[in-house]
Amino acid sequence: SPIYNMGERIGDGSDLPVDIAVDPIDGTTLVARGLPGAISVVALTARGTIHCPIQFVYVNKIVTGREAKDCIDINASVAENLKNIAKAKQRKISELTAVVLDRPRHERLLSDIRSAGARVKLISDGDISASIEAALPEREVDVLMGIGGTPEGVLSAAAIYCIGGGIQCKAWPRDDSERKAAIAAGVDVNKVYKMEDLIDSDDVFFAATGVSSGELLKGVRYFSGGAQTQSIAMRCRSGTVRWIDSWHNFD
Ligand code: FBP
Repeated sequence: SPIYNMGERIGDGSDLPVDIAVDPIDGTTLVARGLPGAISVVALTARGTIHCPIQFVYVNKIVTGREAKDCIDINASVAENLKNIAKAKQRKISELTAVVLDRPRHERLLSDIRSAGARVKLISDGDISASIEAALPEREVDVLMGIGGTPEGVLSAAAIYCIGGGIQCKAWPRDDSERKAAIAAGVDVNKVYKMEDLIDSDDVFFAATGVSSGELLKGVRYFSGGAQTQSIAMRCRSGTVRWIDSWHNFD
């Protein structure tokens, strides 16, 4: 699971002027099964600017790229969102692909996407990588929809902010006790978390390294005496996205 540095001391214990969020592996099951698409993720922002609604294990998410970032609405119907994204991208709905985690909870969502006429790409795990794919220009997918991990949503937000895309999340309590506990803690279960509600500073850095090769990044490839890795690194203020290929010498 993602680890959040919530008030914990790291490094030499001196006060760091940053918030750090990490997911050492997004796609643990993918790695265990030798499947593609697992990544290792870190985000760094100005101190006190990452807000993770940790009362909820899951949030409903919608993520898209720059052109359509202002026309997504997690409270609107699937058909409405797809119509607006298609319009912003100057395409037909049938020319859009939505990426969705393959889970029984998404049965209705999948049927709504298909009825609206868009294509579906199902993934077994790893919605941070899929969110990044949905936000980058000229990729195979145009939007990520559906319910996934809450910390993964916040980490995705860091990347989407740097890319210039749009993200909205809304709590998806697993049961009544999770809902009641959140309400008792004074948390608004119906709140829509927009970018600034998840990360309220543009001083954001994000990096991910491929663990197993996927569409976004190549995984770790070993050779005699070393290994090759591929990473993506982004900075919000400049909007620069870098792909970094590295050779590591174990000696
Ligand atoms: P882990 O690597 O921590 O198992 O997370 C993988 C993942 O697919 C995330 O990308 C996603 O947000 C979450 O699990 C979905 O949760 P679940 O598997 O419980 O539906």
